[in-house]
Amino acid sequence: MLNDFIQTIPKAELHLHIEGTLEPELMFELAQRNGVKLNYKSMEEIRKAYNFSNLQDFLDVYYAGASVLQKEEDFYDLTWAYLEKARSQNVLHTEIMFDPQTHTHRGVDFSTVIEGIHAAMKDAEKRLGISSVLILSFLRHLNEENAFEILHIALPYKQWIMAVGLDSSEVGNPPSKFKNVFQEAKELGFKLTAHAGEEGPPEYVWEALDLLNVERIDHGNRSLEDKRLTLKIAKQKIPLTVCPLSNLQLKVVKDLKEHPLKKMISKGLFVTVNSDDPAYFGGYINENFLQISNALNLTKEDIFLLAQNSFRASFLDEDRKNELLKKTEEFNPN
Ligand code: HPA
Ligand code: ZN
Repeated sequence: MLNDFIQTIPKAELHLHIEGTLEPELMFELAQRNGVKLNYKSMEEIRKAYNFSNLQDFLDVYYAGASVLQKEEDFYDLTWAYLEKARSQNVLHTEIMFDPQTHTHRGVDFSTVIEGIHAAMKDAEKRLGISSVLILSFLRHLNEENAFEILHIALPYKQWIMAVGLDSSEVGNPPSKFKNVFQEAKELGFKLTAHAGEEGPPEYVWEALDLLNVERIDHGNRSLEDKRLTLKIAKQKIPLTVCPLSNLQLKVVKDLKEHPLKKMISKGLFVTVNSDDPAYFGGYINENFLQISNALNLTKEDIFLLAQNSFRASFLDEDRKNELLKKTEEFNPN
């Protein structure tokens, strides 16, 4: 019963890396199409490699997988496949992160990447009725100068990009490293978000808020270790884009039963549920909702709140937010 409720309730996805939606089948197909040699001989080997002990372990596999993406049509096919899947799970709006430096650093032009992704987003809006926006994410293991370079390369496409974000290896790469580039992005009119408190300490969440001036925190789990921080993000209604299956697969939590989502809800935090890198972590948004609901005994009220939060925490304008929120009303359990 909860299964149907989760499947049918309209929702938005706010934490999704397009490179993390590359399913093994498409990876093989693109490797063949582009003559790229993969380290895997079979699906079996791929699935075995998807056994991660931490974030870095995953990132190594994820960046290697992305090497099959070479041409505009590859980025189109990848994005189209995700949007179709998301729409089939009643995602009506999605905010897609992409990691341009992963591609420009191996000789693929920024224009190739964004034109392919954007074309699929436009087609999906028309043909599937799913809206989407793009978040350009800086790779934090690279330096701030590299981040400035990619921001400047992106400027001719500014009207296609809603926000900038920060991802990749967290520990040792604090938000403060990117203070200046986030300042410039803000002045240019981009909305701002950053991964923080996934593996990194609460101090990184403080920095993301106070130094980068982000409006949202991606993950944010470790915020709960700091009472003052927890109170601040509750009071200021800072959205946290939580990703349960990612947290499980990257050993941020040992078991979904120990996941902090329920605690976050009870402390009044503005939380949402998302899939992060669904092709690598064993599920899209509804699998995330379903498994975390089962593990924590979430109620229809919780799921309704999470779905409404997903629209409220989006970067959409108020009119579109209200239009989508209205579509959730018939699911109000009260
Ligand atoms: N954390 C940091 N960087 C990432 C992630 C993540 O979960 N997924 C893709 N890049
Ligand atoms: Zn992420």
